[in-house]
Amino acid sequence: MSAPRYQAPRGTHDVLPQEAARWQWAEDAFRDTCRRAGFGEIRTPTFEDTEVFARGVGDTTDIVTKQMYTFEDRGGRSVTLCAEGTAPVIRALIQHGALGASGVQKVFYLTPIFRYERPQAGRLREHHQAGLEVVGAAGPEADAEVIAVGMSYLAAVGITDAALRLNSIGDAVCRAAYRDRLRDFLRPQFEELCPDCQVRFERNPLRIFDCKVPRCRGLIAGAPAMVDHLCADCRAHFDGVQAALRARGIVFTLDPNVVRGLDYYTRTAFEVTHGALGAQDALLGGGRYDGLAEILGGPPTPGVGFGSGIERVLFVTGKLGTGPPASALDAYVAAASDGAAVHAGPLADRLRSEGLTTDFDPLGRSLKAQMKEAARRNAAFAIILGDDELAAGEATLRDLTTGHQERVAVDRLAVTLKQWRKSPPQPA
Ligand code: HAM
Repeated sequence: MSAPRYQAPRGTHDVLPQEAARWQWAEDAFRDTCRRAGFGEIRTPTFEDTEVFARGVGDTTDIVTKQMYTFEDRGGRSVTLCAEGTAPVIRALIQHGALGASGVQKVFYLTPIFRYERPQAGRLREHHQAGLEVVGAAGPEADAEVIAVGMSYLAAVGITDAALRLNSIGDAVCRAAYRDRLRDFLRPQFEELCPDCQVRFERNPLRIFDCKVPRCRGLIAGAPAMVDHLCADCRAHFDGVQAALRARGIVFTLDPNVVRGLDYYTRTAFEVTHGALGAQDALLGGGRYDGLAEILGGPPTPGVGFGSGIERVLFVTGKLGTGPPASALDAYVAAASDGAAVHAGPLADRLRSEGLTTDFDPLGRSLKAQMKEAARRNAAFAIILGDDELAAGEATLRDLTTGHQERVAVDRLAVTLKQWRKSPPQPA
């Protein structure tokens, strides 16, 4: 068979119904976890003014320099498909006057993210993020809250063996001094850095910690760590975050390599990784961004949050064998004759309105083929419509697990089915 003429664009994928059931399961787990922790959902547009990302994420980042899907719309405005979730959320909160007043905003989102990356396992050009933000709280408890909700979400989908890696990348004051220190350390080996890291050396040397090239990893391994050069305020905050995590029983390791790929981060940076993922092993990543609201033209407001790739979470749950319960029909309506087939749709309507998941055969197939289909669809019950039964206002209800069947008045089908499900009558 020749390849289909049109395929989903490189780095994107289709989600067909069976897989979509797993998506809904993970999304529901995320929504439930967030709701129980007092978060409300926020939905922002799929595209924004390019400036929101260029300024918010920062023009030294890979995202802004290489990965944005930016185009001019028909009105000559530069717009960009959502390249990450945080800047749009802060833009929206500023626009709607939600910042500045006292109090904390706790919001979550589920959104597609577009980045022109080199596609590989776990790295897509369109991926989907479950993310949340706590805005307006400067203290370390907010960082711990965000992380705790992230870990609860992962636990809710059965991922309990992921590793939380924690770091502090300081603030504008201590990071500037640390950058110089890092440059001094790397300068003698500058020529040995990969071309990307040579650019990073000037623009943002912390990002060299993130490089996957073995030679760069070797060079950076002995470098001074940011956490040893924090100013007093950043140090106190970082200690506070660790204490708050311990108080909540959350296990973490300190990792100087967690520097994050977005410029807005201040102080706390974290990632949750899982061994089942390959080189792209982050299930979830986030941190604090106390300067972002001001950069986007709002009142100075602290914030902290994370984003988690749904595709990666589903990859890991697939490996672990966790997922939603197998979807099953309550009832499959099978018609024994053409005359009876006319009644299948209306009966399905009625059963559905009584809360039962019901389907029937739209193809006019034989009764045998319909019963096969009922089994294939994991139906708990078959409802067989024959001419005789219909004439008497009845149908045959068959429990497909026990094989027990009885003729039941059509009016009583739903009630009887529900009763049988509670206490199945045994075959005589
Ligand atoms: P990020 O680290 O760029 O952070 O992305 C967050 C998560 O999205 C990653 O940990 C990963 O699970 C997933 N992800 C990222 N890129 C891809 C890709 N190309 N293909 C598949 N999955 C991917 C942010 O976007 C920040 N906005 C997170 C945040 C929220 N920080 C504070 N608040």
